[in-house]
Amino acid sequence: MDTLLLTAEQTDKAGEILAHGGIVAIPTETVYGLAASVYDTNAIENVFKAKGRPQDNPLIVHISSLDQLTSVAKNIPPEAYELAKRFWPGPLTMILDKQDSISDTVTAGFSTVAVRFPSHETALRIISAANVPLAAPSANLSGSPSPTEAGHVYADLNGRIDAIVDGGSCSVGVESTIVSLFERPFRLLRPGGITLEQLQSVLGEVVVDRAVTAKLSENEKVRAPGMKYRHYAPKAPVRAVKGSGRDTAEYIRSRITGKTAVICYREYADEFSNCYVYVYGDETAKDELARNLFSVLRETDAACPDIIYIQCPDDSGIGLAVANRIKKAAGFDITEL
Ligand code: TXA
Ligand code: MG
Repeated sequence: MDTLLLTAEQTDKAGEILAHGGIVAIPTETVYGLAASVYDTNAIENVFKAKGRPQDNPLIVHISSLDQLTSVAKNIPPEAYELAKRFWPGPLTMILDKQDSISDTVTAGFSTVAVRFPSHETALRIISAANVPLAAPSANLSGSPSPTEAGHVYADLNGRIDAIVDGGSCSVGVESTIVSLFERPFRLLRPGGITLEQLQSVLGEVVVDRAVTAKLSENEKVRAPGMKYRHYAPKAPVRAVKGSGRDTAEYIRSRITGKTAVICYREYADEFSNCYVYVYGDETAKDELARNLFSVLRETDAACPDIIYIQCPDDSGIGLAVANRIKKAAGFDITEL
């Protein structure tokens, strides 16, 4: 299959391909998504195939107006509207009771559906042009870091999908926050651009699912199947080091041997020698760390190091999302200083 490369202006063309059963990678404010019409089972199956995604991992449904919410979800609690008022459009996904019209292929047999109203202008235009909600997982091969630039999508999926819409770099850089409103107390299933603190300011108590911070054992119940898969993982082993920038830099510096790569804060970049050094942002600018993490993981991988050390931020604000993705890349091999 030839993959068509489209500009951000060609949203009508993208919508037309989607409306005719095609699958198209689209930019969003979080990461690129691989979209298909939520009502086209064949196209949805092609999304799973193109990514090599396990069948038991459900997709997020993307809408471009609040009116569309009731066409995909039912029994919607008032808290969903409160969250929507504060954080939609934006990087928040809600787990709700699914409408009967949403097929089991999209939800992997779950009775719930994940819904997101993205803020990216191009994404919104494409959903409107397709004239249906779009089911879209991240547009990477299963297991590799989510794509934050069209070039990342091209590297993973060229020849496997109908088109890629180039909307530049994603501004958030990690996937959306997923909150389940399906159970009480409400539960954070995946941290992202909307922080735990922001959710608590609207919902009160929010439980952080164990899969966010710890490796689950074989038979533990997973609420968001995507959280159990090894993810974002470069080929070399990753060692995450958490603590102050100063302490983690010292710790890493004393362990540099052979082909070591270090992903670090800008403030400490000059302190590492005889190794590959990748900066992913200022220690205090967690938004920047989130924005650059996935592209720096891809870059580091390309250098084929033997081992990768990474300075990992604390859990406050968007740090929880950054630390979660780092822990997953490290298979939860994390040293706390
Ligand atoms: O920011 C994002 O959310 C991006 C962009 C493209 O919107 N999408 C994304 O999709 O990250 P994906 O497929 O890579 O991750 C979806 C996550 C998976 O962990 C999946 O298991 C979970 O959402 N999920 C989907 N439906 C669910 C449901 N009904 N119940 C629990 N978890 C669900
Ligand atoms: Mg994904």
